[in-house]
Amino acid sequence: MERWPEAVYTYIKELTLFDDPVLRKMEARAKNENFPIVGPATGAWLYFFTRLTGAKRVFEMGSGFGYSTWYFAAALRDNGGGEVVHTVWDAELSEEAKIWLEKANLLGTCDFQVSESTLALEAADPGIDLIFMDIDKEGYLDALPSIKRKLRPGGLLLVDNMLRDGNVINAKDQSEGTKVVRKLNQYLSDSPDWEYVLNPIRDGLGIARLVG
Ligand SMILES: C[S@@+](CC[C@H](N)C(=O)[O-])C[C@H]1O[C@@H](n2cnc3c(N)ncnc32)[C@H](O)[C@@H]1O
Repeated sequence: MERWPEAVYTYIKELTLFDDPVLRKMEARAKNENFPIVGPATGAWLYFFTRLTGAKRVFEMGSGFGYSTWYFAAALRDNGGGEVVHTVWDAELSEEAKIWLEKANLLGTCDFQVSESTLALEAADPGIDLIFMDIDKEGYLDALPSIKRKLRPGGLLLVDNMLRDGNVINAKDQSEGTKVVRKLNQYLSDSPDWEYVLNPIRDGLGIARLVG
């Protein structure tokens, strides 16, 4: 299904682009190897929400080689300090993320954990200000109870790929990932425990505030 025409997306990206040579190199790395990153427009929202909430503790689920982590780490630095936990189950990606964030001078706000992300979250102390979920989509619903336990009341959950390229409304798409995303959208929208909006940037960024 069609997203915004590419030219409109380019316009948005150019307006919100962070002028950082390390980010440009990370984007090139992702493009060359077809690695799925949130990209600069969604990244800008990650930075913005971290600044807006004055978050000190951020937990990232499915951090890849650290591209999305860059935005949280930069926002925490600009918030005056804090910590983003980078979690991924590939040790090589975790090591690569350390190298990129060191190049960006952002290592000071990052903790790196090689683990299945929901398990790592279960082991974390509660009271987290912001959780970002970008793991395999099949795992989104299973992760929700841990997220609810670990987020502080009033904390923010951001979830990537909540439109599945528009396939959330395509009845022919009965893949497990899309079915889970549909259920999560509906649940966050209906549940009295969450206030939910779905931002249509790129592939859809779900924004859920834990009521409390
Ligand atoms: C979509 S990519 C993440 C990209 C990253 N958020 C970014 O924008 O730069 C997801 C990454 O998390 C890993 N991953 C997927 N599901 C995971 C899980 N349940 N636990 C840990 N890592 C996971 C994948 O192998 C991949 O490296």
